[in-house]
Amino acid sequence: MQDAFDFSVPEVTGKSASGPAAADRTAELRVLLDRYAHAYYVCDAPEVPDAEYDRLFRELESIESTHPELVIAASPTQRVGAKPLAAFESVSHLTPMLSINNAFTAEEVEAFDRRCRETLLLSDSAPPIAYACEPKFDGLAISLVYENGVFQQGATRGDGTTGENVTLNLRTIRSIPLHLTKEAPQGRFEVRGEVLIRRADFAQLNAAQEAAGEKTFANPRNAAAGSLRQLDSSITAQRPLTFFAYGIGEAAESRTTPDTQSGILDWLSSLGFRVAETRALVQGASGLLSYYEQMGMQRPSLAYDIDGVVYKVDQRELQARLGFVSRAPRFVIAHKFPAEEVLSRVVEIDVQIGRTGAVTPVARLEPVFVGGVTVTNATLHNFIEMARKDIRIGDTVIVRRAGDVIPEVVSALIDRRPLDAEGQALYPLMQCPALCPECASHIELPPDEAVARCTGGLVCPAQRKQALRHFASRRAMDIEGLGEKIVDQLVEAGLVHSPADLYTLTVPQLSVLDRFAEKSAENLVAAIQQSCHARLDRLIYALGIRNVGEQTAKDLARYLGSMDALVQADIATLMQVPDVGPVVADSIVSFFAESHNREVLTRMQAAGVHWQDLPTQVVEGPLVGKTIVLTGTLPHLSRDEAKALIEAAGAKVSGSVSAKTHWVVAGEAAGSKFEKAQSLGIEILDEAEFLKRLQL
Ligand code: IVH
Repeated sequence: MQDAFDFSVPEVTGKSASGPAAADRTAELRVLLDRYAHAYYVCDAPEVPDAEYDRLFRELESIESTHPELVIAASPTQRVGAKPLAAFESVSHLTPMLSINNAFTAEEVEAFDRRCRETLLLSDSAPPIAYACEPKFDGLAISLVYENGVFQQGATRGDGTTGENVTLNLRTIRSIPLHLTKEAPQGRFEVRGEVLIRRADFAQLNAAQEAAGEKTFANPRNAAAGSLRQLDSSITAQRPLTFFAYGIGEAAESRTTPDTQSGILDWLSSLGFRVAETRALVQGASGLLSYYEQMGMQRPSLAYDIDGVVYKVDQRELQARLGFVSRAPRFVIAHKFPAEEVLSRVVEIDVQIGRTGAVTPVARLEPVFVGGVTVTNATLHNFIEMARKDIRIGDTVIVRRAGDVIPEVVSALIDRRPLDAEGQALYPLMQCPALCPECASHIELPPDEAVARCTGGLVCPAQRKQALRHFASRRAMDIEGLGEKIVDQLVEAGLVHSPADLYTLTVPQLSVLDRFAEKSAENLVAAIQQSCHARLDRLIYALGIRNVGEQTAKDLARYLGSMDALVQADIATLMQVPDVGPVVADSIVSFFAESHNREVLTRMQAAGVHWQDLPTQVVEGPLVGKTIVLTGTLPHLSRDEAKALIEAAGAKVSGSVSAKTHWVVAGEAAGSKFEKAQSLGIEILDEAEFLKRLQL
């Protein structure tokens, strides 16, 4: 397959101006250099000694320097260059970069296969579903956009909708082709995959960092992330990053696009990308589980870190029929390897107060290396969990950490618990404190909830700090340089009480802070000012309303269109927004019922923060205001299709039947919802009747 690789370069312009000989030689050199680079960086099978590559490279450089009109962006000489950037621009993805649901057990994988079969209405006697299996790379998701086969733009995943433009850095990665073979689709073509650093390269990189007196990286993933976020691409160029392609974006459709995931991977490989060599096509749940087992055995000897495997329904037509749930497609699942577990000792148990006042017990541990980083704190989740697990100071405990996940204490080894005459007096069970250790406000533990909360609100400095950190964070207002330590100082110095105070901070005020030179103060004020021009959904998210995450903030912005509409919305209005239920609606209403929260917005506006209202996605259609419940299998429509029709008609789909339900649309094997609708006297429709009413 790789032998047939076609490296012809796109037409070189300016041929006549520079004399045919130079142009021809340039084209020839590029073909050779691209071929050798592909063999070396993608196939791990060098065709020529490095010295030969270097000689040809220098020859090309020299021709290009005397004939600058022959230089093209896709030339192998044009990978590194350009001046450092001031900041990364943001990029809207052509189609959202979604996430994947996880499975941890064989049962969950079997349930995934079963769900796929059910949704696709396959009978028990139908043959097993074919799945494309791949490793789950432990790197960073990247989107690459090609125009007519030439690399144009690359971006990080970001929040899935908007990422950062890291094109210049990606150009330095030799396994990312700057131009594709002739078979590449014309027009716009998007490739998705993962940037990572291989284990051997990582070891070398850290050794080099250490020798140069620079900081070393905790693990390959962090090193890859740090390298990709360099504003100076000449630094990225020195980092041994690799790219693995695992799919295409939707804009990529062309006549030649294969109709299976396994076909796409082969095709991407023939276009010049590196794809996982350990991919496989398997049948049914048993095929998935044996792939998992195989990869588990191979994992230690792989060239790069993986944190699980990914299963995708192979046929793209079936993928489309399966549709999406929330932010993850239903045709794919990640089967994660168990998180790494190690032993440590609990030195102390403290509490931490979160942004919304949640009181979390945290174990301070003897430092221990787990899941690629050194851990000194691990969450105990809440006091009920802690009591259930019976974790005490002095205990030897099992600590678990997987990937980006917060480390947690799994259990205590009771037989290693230090014995003492005083027993629990020396090794007490930590109880939930009655008063907040930060602000002395009363701590509430509602009887039906596991989470205790400090009632101090923004009076509590801990909550204030967390709220400000959240406000400034990358996914929210993205205020560069306003990190944890500075937020803590600003709050402790009494300079900032709420996010609105940030916008009136001055350079002289900041200069009094610890280790804060005038230049840093100026930079911070500039960064804060830069955030004045906000995006409505990010501002909503930044406010830190309980239960309002990024996705909900986006939905609220899209459907309500303005901050005023949000502030004024009542529960009923909020519940019209897709995926907003009573709990979220209640959190929003309670948030804006507090005058100090509304005041923060007014004060921010007065200080120059502005945002653009959006054209509201008007909820309109024949069924506005109706709440509909779906149950059972409909003869023609899938669940998602029915839901889409209902929403397009302005109505809302609910998961449960109540007195507020208008209609229940019932299909075959409808169960308790059907009965409940009957008992409440709610109108029950079959598919045909439902479709008729949509046409009203
Ligand atoms: S497919 C809609 N395949 O996992 C699904 N993702 O949890 C699109 N990842 O950020 C992703 N290896 O970057 C896919 N073989 C693989 C993957 C993979 C790693 C990452 C991906 C994404 C994350 C989702």
